[in-house]
Amino acid sequence: MNIKKLKFYHFRNYDKASFSFEKNAVHVLQGKNAQGKTNIVEGIYFLSLLRSFRTNKTVNMIRHGQSSFVIEAEVETKGRVEELKAAVSGTKKQLFRFNDPVARYSEFVGTVNAVLFCPDDMTLFSDSPAARRKFIDMELIKLSRSYTATLSHYQKLLKERNQALKQPCPDQTLIGIYTKQMIADQKIIIRQRAAFVKELMEKAQKLYPFFSGGEEKIDAIYETFAKEEDTETAMEKMYAKTLERDIQYKNTQLGIHKDDFLFLLNGMPVVQIASQGQKRSALLSLKLGLAQIIYEKDGQYPILLLDDVFSELDQDRRKKLIEMLPHEMQIFITSAEPIPKDWFDRPVKFYEIENGTVKEETHERTEE
Ligand SMILES: Nc1ncnc2c1ncn2[C@@H]1O[C@H](COP(=O)(O)OP(=O)(O)OP(=O)(O)O)[C@@H](O)[C@H]1O
Ligand SMILES: [Mg+2]
Repeated sequence: MNIKKLKFYHFRNYDKASFSFEKNAVHVLQGKNAQGKTNIVEGIYFLSLLRSFRTNKTVNMIRHGQSSFVIEAEVETKGRVEELKAAVSGTKKQLFRFNDPVARYSEFVGTVNAVLFCPDDMTLFSDSPAARRKFIDMELIKLSRSYTATLSHYQKLLKERNQALKQPCPDQTLIGIYTKQMIADQKIIIRQRAAFVKELMEKAQKLYPFFSGGEEKIDAIYETFAKEEDTETAMEKMYAKTLERDIQYKNTQLGIHKDDFLFLLNGMPVVQIASQGQKRSALLSLKLGLAQIIYEKDGQYPILLLDDVFSELDQDRRKKLIEMLPHEMQIFITSAEPIPKDWFDRPVKFYEIENGTVKEETHERTEE
C-alpha cells in the first residue's frame, strides 16, 4: 500500500502543506529538532487509525490559533486508488471517501494500514502488562475481525461479572453463568494470542540477527492463567477455587484480562538485561515481523513509519536496518541527523523540514 499524495491544513505546525510520495520508496524526513518531522508521521498515523500515538486529545493536533484541521490523502491499495479526508474540529471528526461522507469510523479506519515504530514504544518491555496486552490486542484486532468480536464479548461479560461480585449478596448462580461464558471466549482468545505470539516471534527471531550481528535470541513467553489444552471443566475448577477471593475483592482475579507477554533475550527478561540498542533492535524486529504477517495475510505490505529510529543505533546497525527493509514497502523515516544517500540501493526521496515547511531536497532513483 502506498500514499501518493498528502495534504495538511492547520495540522500541528503546518498551515497548509502538500506532499507527493513515491510508490515503494523510502522517504527521509530530515531537519533540526522541533521542526515538524514527527508531525508528518503523526498525520499519516491519524489517517490510519483516527487517533494519535502522542496525544489522546485530537484538539492538541489543531494548529494553535485555528479551530479545525484537515488531512487529505490519495492512497493506492491493492491496485485501487482511494481518496480519503478527515476533518477535525474540537472532538468532532468528519470523514470522507472521494468527498462522500463516511458515516462510520470502522468504514474508514484501516484503509491506510500502517506499522509504526516510535521512541515511546521502547517502554513496551518495562511497562505494565496492560501495555503489552494492548500491543498484542491492537495487532490482533487489525488482523482478525473474529478476535475483536470475541474480545469485546469477553470484556462485556467481565464487567457484568464484576458488577455481580459487587452486590452485597453476590448471586453465585449468575456469577457461574458469566464464568462459563467467559471461559468459552477465553479458550478462543488464548488460542489466538498464543498463535499470534508464536508467529510474531518466529518472524522476529529471523530478523533480529541482522541487527545484532551476534548470537542473541529473542523470544516471548505468553503468560496466561490456563494452558491452551485445558478443558472448560478444568478452567471452571480454577474459577471455583478463586471465587471466594473474587467475592472478597469484588473483582475477577482470573482471566485473560491479566495476561502478560514476557520478552526474553537469551532466555533472560529483556527488561533486566538488554541494552538500549538491543531493546531497539528487538522492537524493530517485532515491528518488521508484524509487517510481514500483514503482508502474508493481506497480500500487500503496510506503510512503515519509523520515527526517530536511528538514535541509539550505531552506524552499522543503521545501515543494516536500511538494507533489510523490504523493497515492496513504502517507508517514512524521520531523522535529525542527515542520512547518507549512498546507504540506499532503492528509490529514496529526501525532505528537509523547517518550521512547518517542506523542501523536497533530492530525488534519487537507482536501478534495482
Ligand atoms: N497544535 C500545534 N500548533 C502549532 N504548532 C505545534 C502544535 N503542536 C506541536 N507544534 C509544534 O510542532 C513542533 C514539533 O514538531 P515535531 O514533533 O514534528 O518535531 P520533530 O521535527 O519531529 O522534532 P524532533 O527531532 O525533536 O523529534 C514544535 O515546534 C511544536 O511547538
Ligand atoms: Mg520527532
